Amino acid sequence: MNIPKTLKIFNKKGSILTFNSYGASLKSWNFELKDKNRVDIVLGYGDEINYESNPLYLGCIAGRYANRIANGQFLLNGKLVKLTQNDNGNHLHGGQKGFSSKLWDVVEHKTNTLILSLESRDQDENYPGTLKTTVSYTINDLNELKVAFYAFSDMDTIINLTQHSYFNLNGNTGEDILNHKIKINSNQITEIDHQLIPTGKFLDVKGTPLDLRKFTRIGKMINQNFQQMNFAKGYDHNFVLNNNKANNIKKVAELIGDKTKIKMCVKTDLPGLQFYSGNFLDGSYEGKNGFKLIRNSGLCLEPQYFPDSPNNSHFPSTILKKGDVYAHNIIYGLSN
Ligand code: BGC
Repeated sequence: MNIPKTLKIFNKKGSILTFNSYGASLKSWNFELKDKNRVDIVLGYGDEINYESNPLYLGCIAGRYANRIANGQFLLNGKLVKLTQNDNGNHLHGGQKGFSSKLWDVVEHKTNTLILSLESRDQDENYPGTLKTTVSYTINDLNELKVAFYAFSDMDTIINLTQHSYFNLNGNTGEDILNHKIKINSNQITEIDHQLIPTGKFLDVKGTPLDLRKFTRIGKMINQNFQQMNFAKGYDHNFVLNNNKANNIKKVAELIGDKTKIKMCVKTDLPGLQFYSGNFLDGSYEGKNGFKLIRNSGLCLEPQYFPDSPNNSHFPSTILKKGDVYAHNIIYGLSN
């Protein structure tokens, strides 16, 4: 098979997006400002080869289960499933070789649409069932990137897919995102322990650094001495969206780049939003324009199901029954 290295889509409003088939990863989103200057608002590797393993999960589709599962274990239909443990004894983003580093097939490639698919065989990373997943990326003329997920399995299994782009709305200039302003429409997070595993409790954001219900400068409270922030070394929390009806797509978050004034609006029909402020980027990889990817170089806004749902029966269920269809949407919209 001829593997296209860079896949490009664009719209009539000056947005040009490129992808890599490894991880179905978004590599760049070139956005045209009012004054016709261009800004690439996502982080990426300086060296393309890194998309094959994608250790930082830059721009990828994370799965089968995005985020963490405690001890990599859970019960499904009364049977213990033991997944690979790739994060301090826990399971993160689908294991050693999750969807982020698998080579996806290109199903359709048009001017403004790219559709990729992946077949993950039964027992891949020890997950039950052969799962067929499709992700469709469409950029419309409102500068909205729609990410649509479909999946089905030949056995009961679990699933949680997300888009894992790191955004910096000021571009790839080596500066951090601490002066970006963020707003998240959520009253609660799922509380985490020191390993970032949910305790099972919900925590009201009111009066804490996690209260982002009004536009807030990210750097304002990121270093506040608050246990939930200390555990994650910044923001790395699942915000409860009270939303899990497919096709009930709601606005859940907004982000503004202080230099470019680019505004991003995030919409989804998923029940949670992981806001990760890039706390574990440590300069080991080079990004674009020769800048090292350091702490807070970019941030992720990942609509998804809650972490460790298979071990928390009071969380929205991530079980995908044999023959059922998993269908969810994420929209990232840009304006200036
Ligand atoms: C998680 C972080 C993790 C990162 C890895 C994020 O989705 O919330 O805890 O370190 O992915 O890139």
